[in-house]
Amino acid sequence: MARLVLAALLATTAVPALAGSVDSPDGRIHVTVDTDQDGVPFYTVERDGKAVLAKSFLGFNFTDAEPMRRGFRIEQETTATADSKWEQPWGERQWVRDHHNELAVTMIQPSTKGERHLTVRFRVFDDGIGFRYEFPDQASLPVANIADELTEFNIAQDGKAWWIPGGDWNRYEYLYHETPISSVGMAHTPITMVLGDGTHVSFHEAALVDYSGMWFRRMEGTRFRASLAPSSRGAKVVRKGAFDTPWRTIRIAPDAAGLVENDLELNLNEPNKLGDVSYFKPQKYIGIWWGMIRGDWTWAQGPNHGATTARSKQYIDFAAKHRFSGVLIEGWNEGWDGNWFGNGRDFSFTKAYPDFDIKAVTDYARKKGVQIIGHHETGGNIAVYEKQMDAGFALDEQLGIHLVKTGYVADAGNLISCNADIHDPCGDEIFEWHDGQRSVQHHLAVLEDAARHKVAIDSHEPVKDTGLRRTYPNWVAREGARGQEYNAWAKFANGPGHEVNLVYTRMLAGPMDFTPGVLSLVGSNGQPIASTEAKQLGTYLAIYSPIQMAADFIENLAAHPKELAFIEQVPADWAESHLIAGEVGEYAIFARKDRNSADWYVGGVNNATARDVELGFDFLEPGKVYTATIYKDGPGATYETEARFNIAYDTRKIRKGDKLPLWLAPGGGAAIRLTPDK
Ligand code: NOJ
Ligand code: CA
Repeated sequence: MARLVLAALLATTAVPALAGSVDSPDGRIHVTVDTDQDGVPFYTVERDGKAVLAKSFLGFNFTDAEPMRRGFRIEQETTATADSKWEQPWGERQWVRDHHNELAVTMIQPSTKGERHLTVRFRVFDDGIGFRYEFPDQASLPVANIADELTEFNIAQDGKAWWIPGGDWNRYEYLYHETPISSVGMAHTPITMVLGDGTHVSFHEAALVDYSGMWFRRMEGTRFRASLAPSSRGAKVVRKGAFDTPWRTIRIAPDAAGLVENDLELNLNEPNKLGDVSYFKPQKYIGIWWGMIRGDWTWAQGPNHGATTARSKQYIDFAAKHRFSGVLIEGWNEGWDGNWFGNGRDFSFTKAYPDFDIKAVTDYARKKGVQIIGHHETGGNIAVYEKQMDAGFALDEQLGIHLVKTGYVADAGNLISCNADIHDPCGDEIFEWHDGQRSVQHHLAVLEDAARHKVAIDSHEPVKDTGLRRTYPNWVAREGARGQEYNAWAKFANGPGHEVNLVYTRMLAGPMDFTPGVLSLVGSNGQPIASTEAKQLGTYLAIYSPIQMAADFIENLAAHPKELAFIEQVPADWAESHLIAGEVGEYAIFARKDRNSADWYVGGVNNATARDVELGFDFLEPGKVYTATIYKDGPGATYETEARFNIAYDTRKIRKGDKLPLWLAPGGGAAIRLTPDK
């Protein structure tokens, strides 16, 4: 705040121009907001006095109105500060602190239709910043037909970046590039960077509601600009009256842990709108799934149909015996016979195939204390789904199904929709992006309808996560990245470092239904997975989700009883989570405390480079002795050969402050359960 006063004192013009600034509560991050000599608004960001973002311009282009770029004058600045704590119904941590300083800058711009007003609101936390644009209801711009945002991120130094392409055909399902920042192309967010001076940053967005998703486009050097996902309407975003854009977010930290243990986007989302969501229980699950992904079974009818009543009962029995709360059953419904990819016209979300007795299966599950996880694959046809989803969720509610996995398998830009507001009656099919405004609207409509029927959602091929689980805590997980499924389709398909890359990029956005637990370490045709046995267990700790699958065939899970025992025990809901060792792109070891017991779990994943690490146990309760059950890479383990099965087991006593040396194999990992002695 002192700088605000100083800036005002230094202004020497007759009518002093306002130039705002705001610091993080600890004073280390400093943001300025101003307009340049042409009245173009911009902001800058420093940490510890060093530039993180140099002058970065703000603004909009419209399809039918003059740009919001030049000629702005700052009209008013207001500041605020907040420090509160809020509770997550489920999550990586139970309590979240929201501590920030705020600066809202309202600007005026003359236009041929009269003066236009725009507010930019910045919130500055100790570990990052968020800002959004707020449009008032104004006669000079009654409808904002946004051609694109002109928001810039002018990164002050080069460094390394981890990113996947934005605006490409396979949505978010790519391996990560690790390149100089100055070689990034068009990227999705979160995009993570380590600047030359070691500052860790990650760019993303929060509260993506009724707007188009932001791609991150490099303009030149290390200067980036927001590029909104397109829309069939021409304007990428259409909003009437007053509205706020999503927050543009920048996590800023000195190290990897500071990036990961960071609640920036959650804090920038609105509080829970749904109230009680206790119908959803964090859980582990198995499913009639890997068999179809591998190609042994089919979703469609026929001799190898996966979702039969008999197999469902067999999976329910296994789940009940091994403490899995859920059984996912895919291919239960009509619509899979034929080409459903990017089509989805034949799907029914209420009619089961004749060899799947949905009532008998859900009754049997209930008797065994297990819940069926429903499945709604849309083939990307959101128009068909919107017509039927309420009936589908009503059926789920009636059958006692409280979690549904949805799917939008279609190439990016090929989501089949129909915009009732511009196509009335809604006849022709039109095509949208998975992260365009129409899709964003669709996902929230699904969540709201599902919530009315006490159903939680796990969306695959979704729009990216922007922290909306705070507002809609029935949005429990999603895919939105390259999951384990790719390992079924080619040898080492995800590569040994993919899970590590996910931790520092995709996982900054929120929970992922990655589906670990392929204990057989093979996909179709015996093709090996780039993982050691211990890494499959470590993935439960590295990749957070309140729903964690054990993806393999149940016979394969049973063939690894010790590993299965770990999966049975590992929680899917945490009181606290900490990254206790790790580097972006290299490895990641977490310590997480069970929300429902005094147990701690430690573990994680490595990339292709073998390494020795030393784990510290400062987080344990003082004075207590814990029994540690350790699963680690055995001597000579490597993902590259049959030695991927080398796993070593150990048990020892551990106290707060102890150190534990640990060797991580190429493509390896580790998992440890710590139980306090009585
Ligand atoms: C792709 C999803 O990621 C996968 O989990 C699902 O089984 C198929 N689509 C079919 O819905
Ligand atoms: Ca997928």
